[in-house]
Amino acid sequence: MENISIAIDGPASSGKSTVAKLLASDFNFIYVDTGAMYRAVTFLAIKHQVAFSDETALAELTKKYPITFKQSGHGQLVFVNDEEVTEAIRQPDVTAAVSEVSAHGMVREELVEAQRQLAQTGGIVMDGRDIGTTVLPQAEVKIFLVASVEERAQRRYKENQAKGIQMDFETIKEAIAKRDYLDSHREVSPLIQAEDAELVDTTGMSIEQVVTKIKGIIEAKGF
Ligand code: DC
Repeated sequence: MENISIAIDGPASSGKSTVAKLLASDFNFIYVDTGAMYRAVTFLAIKHQVAFSDETALAELTKKYPITFKQSGHGQLVFVNDEEVTEAIRQPDVTAAVSEVSAHGMVREELVEAQRQLAQTGGIVMDGRDIGTTVLPQAEVKIFLVASVEERAQRRYKENQAKGIQMDFETIKEAIAKRDYLDSHREVSPLIQAEDAELVDTTGMSIEQVVTKIKGIIEAKGF
């Protein structure tokens, strides 16, 4: 596989990260989870007691504490300033606040710059909300993954149970619907499908089926 960039965008729990990781591993590409970066800034805000509404202070935190990824036998680990936060950034307190934090233009500017640096070499699968539209508008392949709210809530419910996080199904469904709304209606880089992205609806599809479908799209583009 040539050193292309693959952008995978879509709403919360649409399966982006699972699919992106599998594609990256099959192609021997770098995987960048940009949602993890917004989550890491939210984690920092909680840790340093910075208000989620304080754009300038949040941007300062983002500048001060570099976010890095490291490969391990247990998958990709996330660090902020050498502190491992892989699990901490998936906790409900971070999830509940990340839409507000990620809506700030100054925070996005910092993270988008860092994301472009990570993608410089090509050979990358990057997932998020604005990869195809803003971060890597030149990406050779752009996928927009969607699934029904019901199905996404079910997936998140099972994931949470496996991790021992207690939250009832209806609460998860409401939280996902709220995050969809906030992510799609913010002023800066809202979640929208890039004009040249391929829409893939994963409702009722297995992970393997989604990966096969995306590989078909990549092949059809001649890569
Ligand atoms: O993919 P995720 O659920 O881990 O993302 C967490 C939040 O980060 C999501 O609610 C919106 C935000 N986000 C964003 O604004 N832009 C991105 N490229 C990735 C995530």
